[in-house]
Amino acid sequence: RLHMMGRGNLVKCLQKVDTFLIRNIGTNVALQEERDGCKSLYAVQAERLDQAERSVLISCNSRTNEKKFLKFLSTHGNIKKYFFYESYGTHAVVEFANRESVASLFEITTIPSISHESLVPFKSRLLTLRNLGLDNLPNQLSGQQSHSQTTIPINQLIQNLSGEESMDQQIISLTKAFQLTEENSRLRFLVCSLLKDIAAAFFPECTIKPFGSSVNGFGKLGCDLDMFLDLDGISGRDTKLLKLGMSLEYQMKMANSERAVTQSILTVIGECVDQFGPGCVGVQKILNARCPLVRFAHQPSGFQCDLTANNRVAMKSTELLYLYGELDPRVRYLVFTVRCWARAQGITSSIPGAWISNFSLTVMVLFFLQKRSPPIIPTVDQLRDLAGPADKSVIEGNDCTFVSDFSKIQLQSNTETLEQLLCEFFEFYSTFAFKRMSINIRKGKEQNKPEVSPLHIQNPFETTLNISKNVNATQLDRFVAVCQESSWLVQQNKKPTPSAGIKGNAFAPWGLSSLLLPSQVEGIKRKGKKRKWEPASDRIKNLLESLKNKNQ
Ligand code: CTP
Ligand code: MG
Repeated sequence: RLHMMGRGNLVKCLQKVDTFLIRNIGTNVALQEERDGCKSLYAVQAERLDQAERSVLISCNSRTNEKKFLKFLSTHGNIKKYFFYESYGTHAVVEFANRESVASLFEITTIPSISHESLVPFKSRLLTLRNLGLDNLPNQLSGQQSHSQTTIPINQLIQNLSGEESMDQQIISLTKAFQLTEENSRLRFLVCSLLKDIAAAFFPECTIKPFGSSVNGFGKLGCDLDMFLDLDGISGRDTKLLKLGMSLEYQMKMANSERAVTQSILTVIGECVDQFGPGCVGVQKILNARCPLVRFAHQPSGFQCDLTANNRVAMKSTELLYLYGELDPRVRYLVFTVRCWARAQGITSSIPGAWISNFSLTVMVLFFLQKRSPPIIPTVDQLRDLAGPADKSVIEGNDCTFVSDFSKIQLQSNTETLEQLLCEFFEFYSTFAFKRMSINIRKGKEQNKPEVSPLHIQNPFETTLNISKNVNATQLDRFVAVCQESSWLVQQNKKPTPSAGIKGNAFAPWGLSSLLLPSQVEGIKRKGKKRKWEPASDRIKNLLESLKNKNQ
């Protein structure tokens, strides 16, 4: 039969087979490979923190001669990895093979001589390269590319996506363009490690760990850096060593509550970061929030930082999100795409307010994936039932137990494509009974709302809390309206085929790229009138036509 087909048909047939394999078998092979090489977040963090402890951050000139620079540093020990990046000037991150190399580097590092100002003599691993014989040639760093820490502009992204072959490919490309890079991830751990050096002045056994989108697998370049000051290394050792029937204990200051302790620790560390932390600017202590924190900008990395303490439940929910993202590659792709779509549509914002947060949005995607038939991911209760004795975790009375051994998790064979899932996501939330129901990823089923907030998403661990309590009715209505609009748009804007007569229009927005264009939804009527969304109108069709024409 293949012989009789002719070359053209054979190619078409093979392409179909290829698409089928990518869709069905490809997903499963990729899935198996990813799960085989899967590390728990705990293991990833330990490895990254160790790398960070052996690293230094050096501000240097873009005309620095890379070879000479490396030769100079190598005299202090083997360099395991290094890279350059731009953020308020050129910087280098250098990871030595051993910690002793950092100590050796410190021995030759001097205190700057400044004539008109005075210095806070706090020494850290944030250094400046003074380069006496700068080479005249510009960009000596060209041997190694200087890594960008920002994403491409949205217009550029829309154009790039329009050139892709399929919507699945668009979703994969978007994730690749926006996800955290290896370098950005290293830099995040290095900033944690630099801050740990400040906190360690008081608490030598402490660690500072990143949580939230920096490590849950769903972080986009430029996302904030959430950090958690972990003092468990101090309180963990509580077995009494009895010798001759005697033991010793430390005298310690008491406070009224855990919260009061957290507040006093953050007050002092926040003050130190403000007064002594090189590169830390705009420090704000937000101690009366439900979760007290210190917010500041770390200039050499360009990160907006939130430092919290005693926030172990958030660390657990980060682990849970990470696990879901590792179970099936479609989870990360879909969460990423929905997060980017929501940002482009103004559903989420970098400013805190009554909008849906990225965390809430992620839980909404997970819930949707649990509701597929068959489900793509298990419920939190199912993950808890698979847990072994070592996984048991109860934090402040909340059961945060779930399985840590990924190989124990059996997934069902759902072969839906990314395109199908994204379209179904919009459909699902276009018609979800937000008025009556609460989203619950513990059960994988909607539950009756226990309170009146417009959007109710149960916190998976602190089950009496609503993670989207901040969201008001207007923002929820907008979310639903944009889901409806996107659902319609994606049906209308299939990939243009040459036969459709759209000549020279390869880059007209279609599929995912049409969903990233600013929304036309504005028809939410207020002031006593019933809220209502105006269905897809001619206005949208005209807009799309004009965009297509523009690109011709
Ligand atoms: N968190 C939580 N309950 C909330 C809000 C946040 O448990 N009501 C935890 C989640 O683990 C979340 C982390 O705190 O991932 C950080 O919160 P946030 O910075 O708001 O979300 P990110 O996931 O980091 O997303 P973004 O990229 O917007 O920072
Ligand atoms: Mg965050």
